[in-house]
Amino acid sequence: MISSEQRAALIEAAIAGRKQAYAPYSNYPVGAALLMEDGRIITGVNVENASYGLTICAERTAVGKAIAEGYRKILAVAIATDNAGSPCGACRQVLTEFAGDVPVYLVDGAGNGRDTTLYTLLPDHFGPDHLT
Ligand code: THU
Repeated sequence: MISSEQRAALIEAAIAGRKQAYAPYSNYPVGAALLMEDGRIITGVNVENASYGLTICAERTAVGKAIAEGYRKILAVAIATDNAGSPCGACRQVLTEFAGDVPVYLVDGAGNGRDTTLYTLLPDHFGPDHLT
């Protein structure tokens, strides 16, 4: 269960972290924040490239940082954009590798938006069970 303080801190981290986004082509900066089991928050931003297709989304940047630091389990996710936009399908799939049906907070720059869950966003996802 995520406390209201944890939820607020995660949203704040996604909004603050978004300032580091590198999005000169789309002008759509994204900040993602992941709550880990020990309470730590790991942020990520979108990292665009002049070769547009090489762009990395904020959520996947954050997942990469978390895994590289030894984490394996995500408890909640916050994503900040201009318009509280939804995460792309690829990011939903990547998040499910390390998270169950966790809360996902979608917010704009002022913290307004909506709360959903990962399995609501990606029902019937592909997972390790499909490989056995
Ligand atoms: N983007 C993300 O960072 N996360 C998403 O889930 C959707 C899209 C980024 C990629 C690109 O830099 C910009 O938003 C516009 O697509």
